Amino acid sequence: MPLARSVSVSSLPGLEDWGGPGAPDNVVLFEVAWEVANKVGGIYTVLQTKARVTADEWGESYVLVGPYVESSVRTQVELLEPPQPALRRTLAAMNAQGCKVGVMGSVMGSGDGLWGEKWGYGVREWANDAVLFGFLVAWFLGEFAAQSEERPFIVGHFHEWLAGLGLVLSRARRLPVATIFTTHATLLGRYLCAGSVDFYNNLHSFDVDKEAGERQIYHRYCLERAAAHCAHVLTTVSHVTAAEAEHLLKRKPDLVTPNGLNVRKFSAMHEFQNLHAQSKARVQEFVRGHFYGHLDFDLDKTLFFFIAGRYEFSNKGADIFLEALARLNYLLRVNGSEVTVVAFFIMPARTNNFNVESLKGQAVRKQLWDTANAVKEKFGKKLYESLLVGNLPDMNKMLDREDFTMMKRAIFATQRQSFPPVCTHNMLDDATDPILTTIRRIGLFNSSNDRVKVTFGDTGDICDTGGFLSSTSPLLPVDYEEFVRGCHLGVFPSYYEPWGYTPAECTVMGIPSVSTNLSGFGCFMEEHIADPSAYGIYIVDRRFRAPEESCAQLTAFLYGFCQQSRRQRIRNRTERLSDLLDWKYLGRYYTFARRMALAKAFPESFTYEPPEAAAGFRYPRPASVPPSPALSRLSSPRHSEDEDERYDEEEEAAKDRANIRRPPSPPGLPPGLPPTRN
Ligand code: UDP
Ligand code: G6P
Ligand code: GLC
Repeated sequence: MPLARSVSVSSLPGLEDWGGPGAPDNVVLFEVAWEVANKVGGIYTVLQTKARVTADEWGESYVLVGPYVESSVRTQVELLEPPQPALRRTLAAMNAQGCKVGVMGSVMGSGDGLWGEKWGYGVREWANDAVLFGFLVAWFLGEFAAQSEERPFIVGHFHEWLAGLGLVLSRARRLPVATIFTTHATLLGRYLCAGSVDFYNNLHSFDVDKEAGERQIYHRYCLERAAAHCAHVLTTVSHVTAAEAEHLLKRKPDLVTPNGLNVRKFSAMHEFQNLHAQSKARVQEFVRGHFYGHLDFDLDKTLFFFIAGRYEFSNKGADIFLEALARLNYLLRVNGSEVTVVAFFIMPARTNNFNVESLKGQAVRKQLWDTANAVKEKFGKKLYESLLVGNLPDMNKMLDREDFTMMKRAIFATQRQSFPPVCTHNMLDDATDPILTTIRRIGLFNSSNDRVKVTFGDTGDICDTGGFLSSTSPLLPVDYEEFVRGCHLGVFPSYYEPWGYTPAECTVMGIPSVSTNLSGFGCFMEEHIADPSAYGIYIVDRRFRAPEESCAQLTAFLYGFCQQSRRQRIRNRTERLSDLLDWKYLGRYYTFARRMALAKAFPESFTYEPPEAAAGFRYPRPASVPPSPALSRLSSPRHSEDEDERYDEEEEAAKDRANIRRPPSPPGLPPGLPPTRN
């Protein structure tokens, strides 16, 4: 979807560290979002992971502005004295008028954070929050401009509609602010997709006012559209959402700013493999407990698939994932496969605590472990005594009646009359919950015959507190990252996904994933990688195929994955794509947007020319993939452990790396970037 006025991802230069030009003098950058130190979804991840590169560029002139959320303030930040005098005066002036504005050093990164709350505002409706937040932010920016000794240049970067009003008011009040609006989705798009609308084929023809009105989001829609139109620069996170913004918000974005991550570099390939092995062992422990009494499958041949994110059943593709799992179950059974799949659904649902069966499962597992250890202790002691007196032990006397009774009792506790539960929690909307309703329809009940088992773990909330995934959980005491590392495949077959951090996070952790060509991430990977599936990036076509065909393709990916040997699971190659998703590379699009906004807002002081298109970057097919199609991964699904033995990770990685052709380094900077101060 080419955008005439926008700079596409591939038109900026290649992957080398682009140190960036550094922040211009006398410019202060305020980045404003509802999710600053306030985790709701992916926007929090954008800000949290980007903080370091932005702070490196802007130093003390970078300030994040977000709402004052008591729980986050208590856990995520510490109070600071504002470093700049103008900021100190601004805070004093606002606090004197009944606001609660503070500066906090944040564990998000090295940028300073700033949170504001007007006393007495307790209305929790989103739009009310957005309006109050918007007025406070505009007040704050105006006050900051007034309190500065010389007229400052301010860049105000606003994310998503919840922060949009601050931008609109900054323009209406003619504040000296170069404004950027980054939309991470469109409200109407999200709502339309969640209904049963053929969204992408009708994008150009929606009567937007009518649709927004019918969905009772007209007021919010207007805030979003006003922000998009008032901004000096409009950006969004992918070309998919750029086209959506053009039709639904009626403005073409100026730039696509893809989302990056803070990539941790491993010095040796086996390091992240070891992390996988450690985390997998913890997930296996959970499975041992959850499936007690029904552990008739080989854990060494069991694969862990998962889907995670906010609970938007069809937007996140949980519907097609379930359907594909039912088909996979059938295929594994009829083909007599030894592989078992445990599929985890990690989505926040309305629950009231863990259910008894799940807690009991872990207690039973613990009891078996304790019993085995107690018997082992006694056994070891007897063995030792016997060796001390120079005798080989009489094996018939090593276990006594008491040991057997203890073991029988433990085994007795593993008997259960029911199948292992699907849910880890008591669901409040059990009868109407879309995941559970579908599971009942397709009959995936964790019976012994099923080769695909399903577990639905509520996250407590998306912040990982008190839910299935939390380091203090009584069921699976790991955090989200550890859990992902322990799995084999992330499955995110979204229908509506402007970017989609979850598969990107899998990639930098070396875990293969499924995404779609309707997600920003999937399109980005298709654009930059010659053969994504050779790197463990499986992209389902949900754009040009009927739902049934997409489901068949997803099933083929899942079944193909189950037939791969350890070596073929190619985690190493997946991790090799990390550079592409690093903020060190992608951060330049943000730098670029700021320069463009400054030049538009203050043309007498800043100049800007669009860069000339440079050759795009593309990862070639990895050299370590066998060249003949007959030997390639999906067509030769043999599970050969011999092959694993011969596999040298470091050698293959070196071979692949040598084959990656990087585009020439930019000689300094691309033409017109950055704009220069006159
Ligand atoms: N996430 C999390 N815990 C979970 C599930 C998801 O912390 O149990 C995070 C995940 O790491 C990702 C974010 O939530 O950074 C979801 O972002 P994404 O862009 O995938 O979707 P969004 O919710 O913004 O639509
Ligand atoms: C390879 C890696 C190990 C890893 C093992 C299990 O042998 O070197 O570090 O733990 O595979 O992989 P799997 O895909 O079966 O979890
Ligand atoms: C939104 C989108 C998600 C994206 C995130 C960060 O919440 O739903 O796809 O990854 O923003 O841009």
